[in-house]
Amino acid sequence: NESSSPRPKAPSLAARIKRQEAPRRMGEEEETETGKKMNNDGANAAPLLTPHKMGRFHLSHRVVLAPLTRQRSYGNVPQPHAILYYQQRATRGGLLIAEATGVSDTAQGYRDTPGIWTKEQVESWKPIVDGVHAKGGIFFCQIWHVGRVSNSTFQPNGQAPVSSTDKPVNSVRVDKFTPPRRLETDEIPLVINDFRVAARNAIEAGFDGVEIHGAHGYLIDQFLKDQVNDRTDKYGGSLENRCRFALEIVEALVDEIGADKVGIRLSPFANYSGAADSNPEALGMYMAHALNKFGVLYCHVVEPRMVKHGGKFETPYSLGPVRDAFKGTLIVAGNYNRDDGNNAISSGYADLIAYGRLFLSNPDLPRRFEIDASLNKYNSDTFYIPDPIIGYTDYPFLSSDV
Ligand SMILES: Cc1cc2nc3c(=O)[nH]c(=O)nc-3n(C[C@H](O)[C@H](O)[C@H](O)COP(=O)(O)O)c2cc1C
Repeated sequence: NESSSPRPKAPSLAARIKRQEAPRRMGEEEETETGKKMNNDGANAAPLLTPHKMGRFHLSHRVVLAPLTRQRSYGNVPQPHAILYYQQRATRGGLLIAEATGVSDTAQGYRDTPGIWTKEQVESWKPIVDGVHAKGGIFFCQIWHVGRVSNSTFQPNGQAPVSSTDKPVNSVRVDKFTPPRRLETDEIPLVINDFRVAARNAIEAGFDGVEIHGAHGYLIDQFLKDQVNDRTDKYGGSLENRCRFALEIVEALVDEIGADKVGIRLSPFANYSGAADSNPEALGMYMAHALNKFGVLYCHVVEPRMVKHGGKFETPYSLGPVRDAFKGTLIVAGNYNRDDGNNAISSGYADLIAYGRLFLSNPDLPRRFEIDASLNKYNSDTFYIPDPIIGYTDYPFLSSDV
């Protein structure tokens, strides 16, 4: 039903993409045909605007809203202004990943980020999820524990944040991060259970699934990476041991809500908050193979070029080997524009592209990519301000579509 679309006057996206073939994996015959079609038909055949079947979800295009922390969930409770924000970015058959959402009262490290461990939080997510569903969107909740990337002021009773280690984040701003407390081995199942309950809560709130935040130097990454994890128990040391915590969370969630509702985000090559690894290729490959055993729906990997927050660097690394190893849907993210998104899809490098800053500033990004329209510029000064409108829901749509 197109009547609920934010673009009532636009030709139906579904009708347009129906005429196109899905791009094939690299090496398959149709690949050059797809390329030719794109050249001949112009924007109509943009690979980003072709459908993709992800488990039981029929995505109508491949432009995914990346998880974006916006710090407008006052007191860790999602707010009504998020209904409009997510609705603006929802399309029929489009995948949206919600901002990082805390799994417990020890999971937080930033002001006004949402949670999903209390009844009030779950109830507050419901109208936001309903809003996305009313537009036909598919909505996953990114569940999160910051670990040591926190400060005692965010922690219950002002206690130290927990981590895989007791080494603090090495920051020039010494006051920013409180030295963490290393989790005892027998406490780890309790944290895994927090993720399990958060996933259950996400489904109760109406989300279509969850994305485990295993990226960017937060708690799971603090276990995965050998430059942080200095444990001597079964959760530290070997690659297998360092991946155990992440995979036990995956297992718990697969058991709780089903593999067809579980995705995970990883950034093996990144080094945020000191979470670097001496062999990121091996880490990525180990996780890809292990995730296959659980049959998880998707793996969402941050590009090696994103070694620093927001930056784009030349790198000899590629996610190609992860692509070849992982059997589910592969989402990639990190400084993609329209052209290299299209290239990544048509070459079979990835199934879906997650867009962060461009989607933040262009609520109708799939539509703009469809017709190759110009893009609004993002304003990083307003990414994290608490204002419920400015820099949040006030980025303009294409004037012809309003
Ligand atoms: C304002 C902002 C908030 C972000 N919040 C999250 C987050 O909550 N979870 C996450 O995994 N990544 C987060 N990221 C990273 C983005 O999801 C994305 O990977 C990154 O911006 C690179 O993609 P881009 O070049 O398309 O923006 C954030 C990025 C920005 C700019």
